[in-house]
Amino acid sequence: MKRILTGDRPTGRLHLGHLVGSLQNRVRLQDEYEQFVMIADVQALTDNFADPQKVRDNVREVALDYMAVGIDPNKTTILIQSLIPEIAELTVYYLNLVTLERVLRNPTVKDEIKQKGYGKNIPVGFAMYPVSQAADITFCRANLVPVGEDQIPMIEQTREIVRKFNSLYGEVLVEPEALIGKIKRLPGTDGGTKMSKSLGNCIYLADSKDEATRKVMNMYTDPNRIHPTDPGKVEGNPVFVYHEAFNPNKDEVQDFEKRYRSGKVGDVEVKKRLAVVLNELLEPMRQRRSKYEENLGEIDRILKEGTARAKKAAEETMSLVRKAMKIDYFS
Ligand code: TRP
Repeated sequence: MKRILTGDRPTGRLHLGHLVGSLQNRVRLQDEYEQFVMIADVQALTDNFADPQKVRDNVREVALDYMAVGIDPNKTTILIQSLIPEIAELTVYYLNLVTLERVLRNPTVKDEIKQKGYGKNIPVGFAMYPVSQAADITFCRANLVPVGEDQIPMIEQTREIVRKFNSLYGEVLVEPEALIGKIKRLPGTDGGTKMSKSLGNCIYLADSKDEATRKVMNMYTDPNRIHPTDPGKVEGNPVFVYHEAFNPNKDEVQDFEKRYRSGKVGDVEVKKRLAVVLNELLEPMRQRRSKYEENLGEIDRILKEGTARAKKAAEETMSLVRKAMKIDYFS
């Protein structure tokens, strides 16, 4: 069986962007692949090292979100990154195979450095997290990595490291492929290009019905449209992007779009319907989440067992890596 590895930083609850980017693929593929899903606490600490309590608290929140969307712990191995020291060990070896210039050329890292205002004072741990992410993906020799579009540079970096490793030491590692969600990039409720916690434009999977509805009713639409009789713009309008992403009734979406373009429907009607659609999607997730919230011992058990399974896979890979690198001294 081919393997999947993917994961999330535990820095907050997961939102609709995570759902269309990666979570839907994980739920869909967990029968066909041996799937590993990582709660990447080590990576979360690269830019939250001063706030470890936040990272710790969100490990459980993310695990609850996984249960909420229907990731099945009997099919999927859920693990905590820091409890697999082999990943840190692999990272050290991979660092030899990457130049400083190359990690800083990574467009996602570049954006983040700008956004965080590091200037010339970039913590080394942060700059090299794509190398650590290559270790995340390869510790179990994953074939496929379901991720959002912003993670493509990380998979590209991983592929380069794998090729370099294999050409130097022999064919041990697997070159992974990225799998992108059906909507390339979900805009924020503010119309920004990306739904992101740090931008405060998210609808969270765990939002209550009232919160989700309020956020939808306040969504950015076509700023040039003042009256419902004005012709409106559908392209790039987040209300319509969300309808296309989440409304299963395609005829209704087409009808809304036609009427919006010709000034025959108000924003309020389109938004009200979107709120209903989203709440229908989120309601079963809220219910599954609350079941596990009442039984956090079960979440701990899932994480412990998953981590133990992942540790076995990591040990298998490590023994191949040590042999290939000629550091398997007494075996
Ligand atoms: N960098 C990813 C994010 O910010 C999280 C992540 C960590 C990840 N390790 C991974 C994703 C390995 C895929 C594979 O969302």
